[in-house]
Amino acid sequence: MTQSDTGQIADPSGPVGIFDSGIGGLSILREIRKLMPEEDLCYVADSAWMPYGEKPRAVVRDRSLKIARFLVEKQGCKAIVVACNTATGLAVDLLREELDVPVIAIEPAIKPATECTKSGVIGVMATPGTLSGEKFGLLRGRFSGDKRIISQPCPGLAREIEKGKPHSIRLRKLLTRFLHPFLEEGADVIVLGCTHYPLVKPLIQEIAGPGVQLIDSGEAVARQLHRKLDESGLRSSSAREGSQRFWCSGKIIECASSLGILSGNTPHVEKLPV
Ligand code: DGL
Repeated sequence: MTQSDTGQIADPSGPVGIFDSGIGGLSILREIRKLMPEEDLCYVADSAWMPYGEKPRAVVRDRSLKIARFLVEKQGCKAIVVACNTATGLAVDLLREELDVPVIAIEPAIKPATECTKSGVIGVMATPGTLSGEKFGLLRGRFSGDKRIISQPCPGLAREIEKGKPHSIRLRKLLTRFLHPFLEEGADVIVLGCTHYPLVKPLIQEIAGPGVQLIDSGEAVARQLHRKLDESGLRSSSAREGSQRFWCSGKIIECASSLGILSGNTPHVEKLPV
């Protein structure tokens, strides 16, 4: 057990809470599962309120806090992973202020992209909310150096991926349109700055071509969670494989089916009570 500054006790045998506006955080959950198979995981898809990237800041902050509180107070989560770039940009400060457990956040992988590019041109695709946020401006300013960073807001893309039809013509059309400026300008690295995008990585790679490297932040988030749990004495010591529970605020059947198509097995999904 670890006591926080405000006296709340976190239990190492408790689950890790993960949330996103929808099923995008599955790309993060996978990486966490790979690195820490023994941890129990609770996942919330806030599908009734998606897309966060096209919602006012106050709405995203309110939903993020409600969900994080549900995970910590009702499910006993010992840490929260904000598996959403938009919610990180708009609400992570609030979560860190209000919660007594470690909050692990995600940001577009601009730093590693600057280390990989040979052409010096980097494309960043993300939601309008992420790209217009102050946090993204600071990140870009900090790491861009002499590299050219082209940012492309992708309205509608997360929602299309959420439908769980990775081979749809509409999805291909949207991606072709959003990737075009990067390819025209000679970008050789593209940052997937929304957790939904790695779920359709093969299609993005096919359209971008073999000379373009795609980078996301999933592994880095899992490593950061590992470090934080270690530092706080919160790693599970269980020898069995961790469990997974899923909640969704939107349509349960659709959510379960999209999760199933994109992950290979259809989980049991419960109705989110907040
Ligand atoms: N998956 C989320 C992200 O990483 C956002 C998708 C949405 O707009 O709801 O930004």
